[in-house]
Amino acid sequence: VVFEGTIPAVFAAPLAAAGTSVFRPATPGAESIRGLFLLVLAIAALIFIVVEGALIYCVVRFRARRASDEEPPQIYGSGPIELAWTVGPLLIVFVLFLVVYRTLADVRPSSVPANALQVTVVGHQWWWEYRYPAYDIVTANELHVPVSEPNHLWPVYLSLRSADVIHSYWVPRLGGKTDLIPGRTNHTIYTIEQPDVYLGRCSEFCGMQHANMMIRVIAESPDAFRRWAAHEAEPALMDERVQAERETFLQLACVNCHTVRGTSAVGTVGPDLTHLMSRQTLATGMLTNTSAHLTAWIRNPQAIKPGCKMPDLKLDDQTARAVVTYLETLK
Ligand code: CUA
Repeated sequence: VVFEGTIPAVFAAPLAAAGTSVFRPATPGAESIRGLFLLVLAIAALIFIVVEGALIYCVVRFRARRASDEEPPQIYGSGPIELAWTVGPLLIVFVLFLVVYRTLADVRPSSVPANALQVTVVGHQWWWEYRYPAYDIVTANELHVPVSEPNHLWPVYLSLRSADVIHSYWVPRLGGKTDLIPGRTNHTIYTIEQPDVYLGRCSEFCGMQHANMMIRVIAESPDAFRRWAAHEAEPALMDERVQAERETFLQLACVNCHTVRGTSAVGTVGPDLTHLMSRQTLATGMLTNTSAHLTAWIRNPQAIKPGCKMPDLKLDDQTARAVVTYLETLK
């Protein structure tokens, strides 16, 4: 409620529905992390109670009394006591090490499960690129994945890379943070049980629009996922009714950064637009994907997302209308 004014409208509703709470895990990995968190919290709480209890007891029990002003007995060194406060913490740290190690194995698999859906995630300033090598799909900002069913596990194995600086992928209900580091590939795995829209954010400061690098994971039934994948792998729709608008678009600088598969637009700096209309949001989760938002976005992205790599092309009314009309046919 406190943040209502700053959370973009598109996020407020799904936030309430799907939530981003680590206390509502939706994968075995996230459940493991919650268990670890609760265990560490319990141990820390116990230490806090014991230490504060001893402190309060001593403050009260040995407070200065008016009757006597003599010093209490001064003691130096005690084998048993020193042993106790050395061995105690050592044991605690050892137990925590073992539990953390086990949790790591749950969230960072050492090998790719044979039946896993593999997706490569590339972090860009400030958007996400998703590649599905097995399906020949390149898309952006919204990750579609299948859920696992009791008799058919279908884990999602992510390989995370960066195109520029360090980002961090965090969908709290699905797992812990995984950094995307230039020159390195990290991995994580989600085995999702419930269809839902899981929200997350980039959680490593990566520049001016770090806060607007949002994540939507759309987990759906295996059938729905296969339908989405089959459609997404197709080239862009060639609607003859918007031929003039398409030509306008293809003559603009847009094509230097964006790809529309099946046309002469083959840029790879920005998100692939082949099936732009299949996405719920624009500008990496900032805006719902509506005509009005799309128009505002292409007319001046810098007003919505200052510092983003998409320049203000200063399109006039007529050109902007043509571009939006064309983009809206990219179902
Ligand atoms: Cu990407 Cu912060």
